[in-house]
Amino acid sequence: MLKHPDIPELYAMLSEKWREAMSKLFAESSINGMVLKNRFVRASIWEGLATTEGEVTPELVKMLTTLAKGGVGLIISSYSYVSLEGQGAPWQLGIYRDELIPKLQEMTSAVHENGCKIIMQLAHAGQFAEERITGRPALAVSASDDFTERYVKIITREDVQRIVSSYSQAAKRAQDAGFDGIEIHSAQDCILSQFLSPAFNARHDEYGGSIDNRTRIHLMIYRSIRKLVGEAYPIVIKINCGDFIEDGITIDDSLYIAKMFSDTGFDAIEMTGGIIRTGKLSLGRADISSADKESYLKDYAFRYKKEISTPLILAGGLRSFQVAEKIISDGIADYISMSRPFIREPDLINRWERGDLRKAECKLDNLCFNPGFAGKGIYCVSREKEENKTAGH
Ligand SMILES: Cc1cc2nc3c(=O)[nH]c(=O)nc-3n(C[C@H](O)[C@H](O)[C@H](O)COP(=O)(O)O)c2cc1C
Repeated sequence: MLKHPDIPELYAMLSEKWREAMSKLFAESSINGMVLKNRFVRASIWEGLATTEGEVTPELVKMLTTLAKGGVGLIISSYSYVSLEGQGAPWQLGIYRDELIPKLQEMTSAVHENGCKIIMQLAHAGQFAEERITGRPALAVSASDDFTERYVKIITREDVQRIVSSYSQAAKRAQDAGFDGIEIHSAQDCILSQFLSPAFNARHDEYGGSIDNRTRIHLMIYRSIRKLVGEAYPIVIKINCGDFIEDGITIDDSLYIAKMFSDTGFDAIEMTGGIIRTGKLSLGRADISSADKESYLKDYAFRYKKEISTPLILAGGLRSFQVAEKIISDGIADYISMSRPFIREPDLINRWERGDLRKAECKLDNLCFNPGFAGKGIYCVSREKEENKTAGH
């Protein structure tokens, strides 16, 4: 539209608005020294492209290179398990031993050569780890009736020390591999979210009960990582604004936690919500049919911004440039993270920057994950179908 104006005044007015929006979304900013060229972040998403040992493959490097070329400012790597018992899905990325570093270095170099930053998401699946993949019993924060069908190990104080150490060692490896920072995954279904949530944490020791106890392991992990990586290395944390399940974290708990993390020294908070395996507020949410349904956690983000002084990254359901622009200019969040739109259109941000402001073409059908579970890595199945139809196959 802007490239072929019929009416010069309208063109001038629109391009003025467009420039204004561009200047906000494409202004340089930084998170603890990590300079970002725009406000768009690729949210962590399992690509199903690592080896069975969690090592980076050429296909994964290729996918992230294409993404980096497409204009996004920051990539958050997919879930990377910090210890062998923490793997939660097949072909997941690992960061549990030094031998994984050289291939990770190839990946970070490829991203940097294409003008983009990358941080590594550190995670552990806790009770949701897959024993048939890990060959070890899953670790649970506390006992539950759900465990009648399988053996899980309840986490001891010694296990807590071991988990803390696996996070800090993993963070150091990520730094050595050239990542610009790390993100501690404490949202959705992972072990740190299980510590936070009364729905999973019924412990009676210093790691259960009050919020201060349920966040104790987070602060231990933060401090042990900070000691190893230094003050000038970005440490981001991803948390739920709510679990949206019975006995789960509420928004008020979450605000208290976010403020505590912000005051502790985390360099940014990424906000999401829901526990994937309950199906509630599914992360593969399909109903984003209009602009008001986009970015479905923005009201919670608005409350977060009033409480925290650290930058806020808002995840979930963004599809339109105009909604992104409003979120940033209204001060609801500082960055916007998206995951599924980039599977179909890795160059979405360049497209928007060129002035083609049509919303993301992602159909939200979640078909992209089927090839992932078949061992081929995620890709946009709808787009492939459309291209085949056009080609007459
Ligand atoms: C199959 C699947 C895998 C995901 N893997 C991760 C992950 O490894 N780490 C993470 O923090 N979030 C993960 N997410 C959540 C995404 O980061 C994101 O918050 C969610 O897809 C909503 O954003 P979107 O509407 O832009 O896709 C995953 C989501 C889906 C559907």
